[in-house]
Amino acid sequence: MTLETSRLILRPFRNEDIDLLAELMANPDFMRFSLGVFSREQTASFLEKLIDWDRRSLPSQFAVIHRDDHRLIGYCGFFHQQVDGTSEIEIGYRVHREYWNKGLATEAARAVRDHAFAELKLPRVISLIHPDNVPSRRVAEKNGMKLEKQTVFRGFPTLVFAINRKQWTGSMP
Ligand SMILES: CC(C)(COP(=O)(O)OP(=O)(O)OC[C@H]1O[C@@H](n2cnc3c(N)ncnc32)[C@H](O)[C@@H]1OP(=O)(O)O)[C@@H](O)C(=O)NCCC(=O)NCCS
Repeated sequence: MTLETSRLILRPFRNEDIDLLAELMANPDFMRFSLGVFSREQTASFLEKLIDWDRRSLPSQFAVIHRDDHRLIGYCGFFHQQVDGTSEIEIGYRVHREYWNKGLATEAARAVRDHAFAELKLPRVISLIHPDNVPSRRVAEKNGMKLEKQTVFRGFPTLVFAINRKQWTGSMP
């Protein structure tokens, strides 16, 4: 399934995305607040995992394409996480630095959130964010999410932002 917003196209990843995705994931700005940059091999297995989720019709990440220049500028979509022993669907996002602070991550995350509730019928979605990651916190807030708690995720202090179906329905015009 492909999602469209005014400035972006969010489409499933394909094997041919490997070169551009590897370039993005080798960039320390793109990989801020992660364990670090990815080698080409790490990106290849990440990409394979996303394509496998698509193949199995599981929530997955979308390739984020800018309509103006048709460039792959990042990813936004779903990850499958275990948080404090509970299975959760996370909305995650990363955008090429040249495209920061234009509202693009928010635009993508909103489309993904609406897809989660409207088509996938998920009960809730979360975002996991390092407390120091102010831009990402803003994206979660602008995506209608509320700070639920602070926890430790993969050894790091992590804020859990969440929105459930009822809150989403109440936020729709
Ligand atoms: C987080 C990220 C995806 C945001 O992308 P983006 O397209 O720039 O996001 P938006 O433009 O939609 O929103 C960014 C918000 O952060 C704010 N912001 C950016 N830098 C900031 C700073 N240093 N201090 C305070 N606010 C800041 C912007 O002003 C904007 O908020 P506003 O609309 O209220 O003004 C992007 O910074 C990124 O890819 N970072 C590296 C990867 C990452 O951290 N991913 C998230 C992991 S949880």
